Amino acid sequence: MKLGVNIDHVATLRQARYASMLDHPNAEPGIVEAASACERAGAHGITVHLRADRRHIQDQDVRRLRDSIVTKLNFEMGNTKEILAIALRLLPDDVCMVPEHRQEITTEGGLDVVKHRKELKPSIQRLQSAGIRVSLFIDPDPDQVEAAAELGVEAVELHTGAFANALKHLQTFEYERLVEASQLGVRSRLQVNAGHGINYVNIAIIRQVPGLRELNIGHAIVSRAIFVGLGHAVRDMLDAMNG
Ligand code: PXP
Repeated sequence: MKLGVNIDHVATLRQARYASMLDHPNAEPGIVEAASACERAGAHGITVHLRADRRHIQDQDVRRLRDSIVTKLNFEMGNTKEILAIALRLLPDDVCMVPEHRQEITTEGGLDVVKHRKELKPSIQRLQSAGIRVSLFIDPDPDQVEAAAELGVEAVELHTGAFANALKHLQTFEYERLVEASQLGVRSRLQVNAGHGINYVNIAIIRQVPGLRELNIGHAIVSRAIFVGLGHAVRDMLDAMNG
C-alpha cells in the first residue's frame, strides 16, 4: 500500500503567521522542504488541496511543488472553472476531485458523482486528455462507485471519515461499507485509494480493507511531526500501514 502525504497543514501553520508576507525569508515552515522531507522518508507521493479560498496551500506553492517533487504530485481540487484551468497548466500526475464548501473546516462527505456526473464529465475528459490520472473522492457507497466507473476515471478515493469518526458500536458497520465499496471498485477495474481521518491507531483496521492501493494522510502525520519530526512521522505511518 502506498502513502501520499497531504501537507496542507504545513501551509496552515505558515499562513497563521505569514499569510501576507509569503515571500519573506522568515516565512516558515517551507512547503517544498516539507514535501522533500516526506519523500526522503519514503512517501510515495505528495498531496495538496488548492482551495478556492486559499486558506492553506497557495498558487505559488503548487507551482514550486510541481518543479521539486520527485515522486508524484496529487492535486486535490473542487470542480470549478478557475481551479480546472490551474490544474491544466500545472499538469500534476494525479488529480483527486473533491467537493468543496467555503464554510467547512475540512472536506465533509464525498463527491456526489451520481448527482453531478454531467458537470464532472467534461472536466474529467479535459484532465485525462492532458495526461492526468483522475480520481474521485467518494463516500463508500456502491452507487457512487458505479457512477465513478461509468465516468471512466482511473481511481476512486474512498472517504474514510465516517469510519474514523464512528463511535465504537458503529465502527464495524462503517468498516464493512469500506470493504464492500473497495471490492466493487476493484471489480469495476478502478484503482481504489482511501483517505480522511486516518491516524496511527485506526490504520491497523484500515489496512485490512482489501484492495486498497494508496492512502492519503495529512492531519495525523503533520500532528505527530510536531513531536518527532516529519521524516520520523512519515516512517512511523509507513511501518503502521505495512505492518
Ligand atoms: N483525502 C482527501 C480527498 C482530503 O480532502 C483530505 C483532507 O484534506 C485527506 C485525504 C486527508 O485527510 P486527513 O488530513 O484527515 O488525513
